[in-house]
Amino acid sequence: MPRTQVAIVGAGPAGLLLSHLLHQVGIRSVVLESRSRAHVEQRVRAGVLEDGTRQILLRCGVGERMARQGLVHEGVNFAFEGSLLHFDFPALTGGHTITVYGQQEVVKDLIRARLEAAGEVWFECEAVAVQGLEDRPRVVYRAPDGSQDALEADFVAGCDGSHGVTRACLPASVRRVYERTYPFAWLGILAEAPPASHELIYVNHPRGFALFSMRSPTLSRNYLQVRADESLDGWPDDRIWEELARRVDRAASLTPGPVREKGLTPLRSLVVEPVQYGRLFLAGDAAHVVPPTGAKGLNLAVCDVVVLARALQDYYRAGDETALRAYTERCLEHVWQAEHFSWWMTSILHRLDDRFEEGMQRAQLRALRRSEAARRYLAENYTGVHTSVRYVEWVPLT
Ligand code: APR
Ligand code: PHB
Repeated sequence: MPRTQVAIVGAGPAGLLLSHLLHQVGIRSVVLESRSRAHVEQRVRAGVLEDGTRQILLRCGVGERMARQGLVHEGVNFAFEGSLLHFDFPALTGGHTITVYGQQEVVKDLIRARLEAAGEVWFECEAVAVQGLEDRPRVVYRAPDGSQDALEADFVAGCDGSHGVTRACLPASVRRVYERTYPFAWLGILAEAPPASHELIYVNHPRGFALFSMRSPTLSRNYLQVRADESLDGWPDDRIWEELARRVDRAASLTPGPVREKGLTPLRSLVVEPVQYGRLFLAGDAAHVVPPTGAKGLNLAVCDVVVLARALQDYYRAGDETALRAYTERCLEHVWQAEHFSWWMTSILHRLDDRFEEGMQRAQLRALRRSEAARRYLAENYTGVHTSVRYVEWVPLT
């Protein structure tokens, strides 16, 4: 039976970065990914890297293309009540910025780094069970030819996202799931059209939330708040552009273009506690889910795996299990911080159809306009001062 030190389920940002960090300190891993390489590299997801995430990718040697092609932004904007409010990140945070760089580009960079280092990333290998969690873990998986096999390991990292299998491997007797679902979804498009603005614009509009982002000077990434039960069938491209134009109003100029990708994203907040059991450790969306409003998903995955990689290094280097035992406590610190920020951003920007909630929204948006301290709170959370920036010095693991 094949064996490795750390079996990693999932080749998203969490699994791939964990495998890369472990490789850099001589710890062997195998990444099992249910989909093909082409699929995971083309999957359009979010696109904002916190300042800490940018620095972590650069420090562990996978940030060169991001540094060349990523768009460094010194702020974002809120449009509400007919005017624009700019958040000057460097001024508010002592120099921190964000980088706009598609998540699938991070995945491509990590896959390339792993394969160039002869790393083992087994595509089209779907994990179907994780057994022996207390002492001799093994991942049972379905191979590309449909046969079933098992990979033995010292540890298993569940990095298989919000629809994976590893979260359910925590015994129901210990697993607690805290969840909020929102009564709306995001309809997102990737279009061959110039961005509405040079910086992101989050719009709180009576017709509903909209977000104007980008991937390059010729590729825009825009989102609309729609009903939670919405269907793409009711949203032909021209209707999407019309609604985006209504909501952006006079905040920016919109140039429609061919839509390359269209999708619906449900919004929910979710936290699993604990994020470990025996020799299984969850990281990324397997452990927590955030609404995309705060652009935290990828950045939280990075935080988790830096903590886990460091704890595994302590074990293999000195047999010290202290950090492994403290993994849940350490991760939940940054997870709940980001969960709150993502919930808060969602609550102040979306149309809620509740008079009291909309009164709360108006008060908070006006406070942001009036108070530099309030803008500093938002800027610190958005750039990762309380999340990824805290882990920059941990990388590279030494
Ligand atoms: N076996 C093997 N691989 C699996 C299985 C399985 N049973 N189930 C899921 N996977 C794979 C998925 O195909 C995906 O490639 O696990 C990977 C999980 O990746 P992500 O969903 O990207 O999760 P994560 O790495 O934690 O990154 C979180 O990704 O989904 C976004 O919004 C999320 O930005 C956040 C980021
Ligand atoms: C994106 O560019 O895809 C994006 C940006 C900010 C968000 C969510 C998504 O809050």
